[in-house]
Amino acid sequence: MSDERALLLADLRERAAYFATLTDLGLPADAIPAAAPVARAVAAPPAPAAVQAPPAETLEQVRADLGDCQRCVLARTRTKIVFGQGSPTARLMFVGEAPGGDEDEQGLAFVGKAGQLLTKIIEAINLKRDDVFIANVLKCRPPGNRNPETDEILQCQPFLERQIASIRPTVIVGLGKFAGQWLLKTMQPITRLRGTLGTYNGIQVMPTYHPAYLLRNPEAKKDVWEDMKVVRDLLAK
Ligand code: URA
Repeated sequence: MSDERALLLADLRERAAYFATLTDLGLPADAIPAAAPVARAVAAPPAPAAVQAPPAETLEQVRADLGDCQRCVLARTRTKIVFGQGSPTARLMFVGEAPGGDEDEQGLAFVGKAGQLLTKIIEAINLKRDDVFIANVLKCRPPGNRNPETDEILQCQPFLERQIASIRPTVIVGLGKFAGQWLLKTMQPITRLRGTLGTYNGIQVMPTYHPAYLLRNPEAKKDVWEDMKVVRDLLAK
């Protein structure tokens, strides 16, 4: 296939994936503007008291609803569900891909080698693991650490959405391709996403490389450091 054809195909795939995220109105879910005020011929009645947003669920409620999840095939092979852990009022949240072997055994996110590197990344911006919240796109380990399947992501995503809505952090760091793409609703490769701020439901998102990638490619640590400096500055505002 010619280079031009391959580029055209890649572009079409990217567009198709984007269009799949649109609402019935043909707009990205978080781009729907508030309804325009309706012009009135008569004087408007006094403004009602501001409508209070319903209180967010607690993380305990989200965890209770997840229960002994059997929503996808990963339930058959997992040892423990990895809900995620950290501060329920964290201003900084990390989202990874899925539990690995150590996480599956312990029921905790990022406790293996990649997790130790994540601890160093957190401490490099003068925070502690307990200050942040760490979760994954998937709550169960894919066998042999294979990539998440689309249906697994779809079954699991309401729980990550509800965790984010409960914590309402100032910044979310998306670790690696699956988290970056999920948070930013895009199919762009992580090499393209990394280092460019985006938003998830109005929350700032910094996509960066996954710590497991850094273990294999230590030269990329400097890029992650650049991204984390941006995150540190956002948190200082
Ligand atoms: N890799 C991830 O993406 N998440 C974990 O919890 C551990 C390793």
